[in-house]
Amino acid sequence: MSKTNVIFHQEEKVFHLNNGKVSYLIQIEEDGVVSHLYFGKSFESYSNHKKYPRRDRGFSGNVPGNSERAYSKDTLPQEFSSHGSMDYRIPSSIIRRESGSNLHDFRYFDYRIEDGKPELKGLPQVYTESDEEAKTLVLTLKDRDQEIYVDLIYTIYSDRPTITRSTKVRNLTANSISIEKIASMQMDLTNSGIYDEVISLPGAHVQERQLQREKINAGIKTFESRRGTTSHQMNSFIALVNHDTNEFSGPAIGLNFVYSGNHSFEIEKDQIDQLRVLVGINDYNFSWQLNSKESFQTPEVIMVYSDSGLNQMSDNYHHLLRERVARGIHKDRQRPILVNNWEATYFDFTSEKIKKIVDEAAKLGIEMFVLDDGWFGHRDNDDSSLGDWFEYKEKLSDGLKGVSDYVHQKGLKFGLWFEPEMISIDSKLYEQHPDYLMQEPGRSPSASRDQHLLDMGRKEVREAVETQIRKIFDTVNIDYVKWDMNRSMSDAYSIILNAQNQGETAHRYLLGVYELLENLTRDYPEILWEGCSGGGGRFDTGFLYYMPQSWTSDNTDAVERMNIQYSTSLAYPISSMTAHVSASPNHQTGRSTSLKTRGDVAMSGVFGYELDLEQLNAAEKEEIAEQVQSYQEIRPLVQYGDFIRLKSPYKGNNVAWMFVSQDQKEALLFLGRILTNAQAVFNEVKLAGLNKEFVYEDVETKEKYYGDELMTIGMYYPDFYGDYQTQMIHLRKI
Ligand code: DGJ
Repeated sequence: MSKTNVIFHQEEKVFHLNNGKVSYLIQIEEDGVVSHLYFGKSFESYSNHKKYPRRDRGFSGNVPGNSERAYSKDTLPQEFSSHGSMDYRIPSSIIRRESGSNLHDFRYFDYRIEDGKPELKGLPQVYTESDEEAKTLVLTLKDRDQEIYVDLIYTIYSDRPTITRSTKVRNLTANSISIEKIASMQMDLTNSGIYDEVISLPGAHVQERQLQREKINAGIKTFESRRGTTSHQMNSFIALVNHDTNEFSGPAIGLNFVYSGNHSFEIEKDQIDQLRVLVGINDYNFSWQLNSKESFQTPEVIMVYSDSGLNQMSDNYHHLLRERVARGIHKDRQRPILVNNWEATYFDFTSEKIKKIVDEAAKLGIEMFVLDDGWFGHRDNDDSSLGDWFEYKEKLSDGLKGVSDYVHQKGLKFGLWFEPEMISIDSKLYEQHPDYLMQEPGRSPSASRDQHLLDMGRKEVREAVETQIRKIFDTVNIDYVKWDMNRSMSDAYSIILNAQNQGETAHRYLLGVYELLENLTRDYPEILWEGCSGGGGRFDTGFLYYMPQSWTSDNTDAVERMNIQYSTSLAYPISSMTAHVSASPNHQTGRSTSLKTRGDVAMSGVFGYELDLEQLNAAEKEEIAEQVQSYQEIRPLVQYGDFIRLKSPYKGNNVAWMFVSQDQKEALLFLGRILTNAQAVFNEVKLAGLNKEFVYEDVETKEKYYGDELMTIGMYYPDFYGDYQTQMIHLRKI
């Protein structure tokens, strides 16, 4: 393990966080203004030669209290900017005092360095298993007039090119203050021209996380969600890169926000081409009343630096999220191959139908059956019963327990779908507690999919749902839960909050959800939890803290899934990405693909099926039984091996990625070609991550290859015939 340290160079007033992988430098300038000096590749000694230069620039005023004209907050790269003291770039915070003033000017106050990492109460976070794993710097700033303090919390992790950052505001004034904006991190990068492009993951329902890469131009660019959740439309991750950065070379800084609500990533290229980057809770519809002596802790951001391309950045996220964000017994366990009845039956099922699917699943070797939406209340379609978490007796003549017992007798595990944060107007819960629905009283709320949000910021509302869920867990044998959420937030108003606290509703909602998840996952540790929000609308690092896997997308089309899974892997591990084989033609796109193609794509994630097994012919059943067996063989490699992107579906017709075991003795190559043409060229691919000294054998064909040659001269794609072709090649060291 390399030395992880945070050193304060007293004379130069420089903090150096260093772990042999990355260095982060912060300087206290004249009058206690805190500047950002560096984040990137690690180095040992700093001579203080790189203090930010001074220059008198027109219309860039001076640091309050300092008459030096060349010293301005308007251009100085800072760690946490102030609002109203002549820094005209986007502010890291806006804090309004009782006087109505929102002026503040934060200066260095003191610092402490601790072993390990302080817990962020009530929030998802990166954790450590021992204090040796990390060191934390808490750098405290104070407004120059008021008793308002801001703790900038930096944790550097041993042997990972990773720093997490968050912010805590403490109000020691006698009055309450209103936080209208508070970033979890700010980083100002000087005009080195290194980071001139940004990668983000925008999308839509059934089209999540589409890789977008663009030039950073002058002005402000924001990547955000205002939907109360992470959203399908913009994931909570970006990467800053150089125009030359590719999968294998060039610098990249990843910023991954550990939060599942309204987020915002702001990038400003200023008047002298410097970059300011801010990440935090979106200030849209947000404010937080902080009473005297109270504090507000923001969620944290995981910053990863790579000097050799995007694969290295992703690899660090994969390890960290698997090892120190995901929790519980399932985080390192092989995940069961499941069949889910959603695309097989939608709402139209009975106990008998379910049993037939289970019978088939058992014959094919499938390991778990998941009963999706429609088993509760009187739910025959999506316009009723959310909030009524008791079995629908007319549909399930054997009851939920009967189904679960049957599934277990057949040797499978049993999983169940819930959508706990929602309420239907047509429900018993609404009949009894109409006020649990989140809305401004007297103002009709917007429906979406005929459903509404419960105000999860209220304890009694959470308890009403929790009690019902616990009753099911305590009476029915449940091995897995799919936690869904099928609409965005609207009508953000909470009847338990005062007028001046209404801006807290969305964040309090999420804190309530996190608390409920904490209680349930703690008390039912054997259950494997899967996050979901109409597919991947809440695919984020915050949810991963409670649930080690998430439904990647409602889009199960193998071709579109290649894009979705490829770009999701930028920030999230394969063990978190669930992927199912569904019917052909596909229900979302109408496209027909072979069972092999569907299998190969889904086997590149946490594998399962989502089709009516009863409708299959004998040949298809045989193929599925083989797929199940193959996946069982490659499962540890896929779920816990190192994942390497080789050819991007965003760049052309050919796709390639691979998995390599930690000891490099085993690898799995996935090759895909989208469209064919009559005079197809012979495509080639160079492998990566293998041991060049090893000789590998193709498990199926027994052909032998040297690791060195596969990585240097590569191999040809098979001479595919037809559209949407894929191939998996399993290599083992001999
Ligand atoms: C959205 C999910 O993503 C689907 O898999 C399914 O569970 C439906 N909801 C059920 O309503």
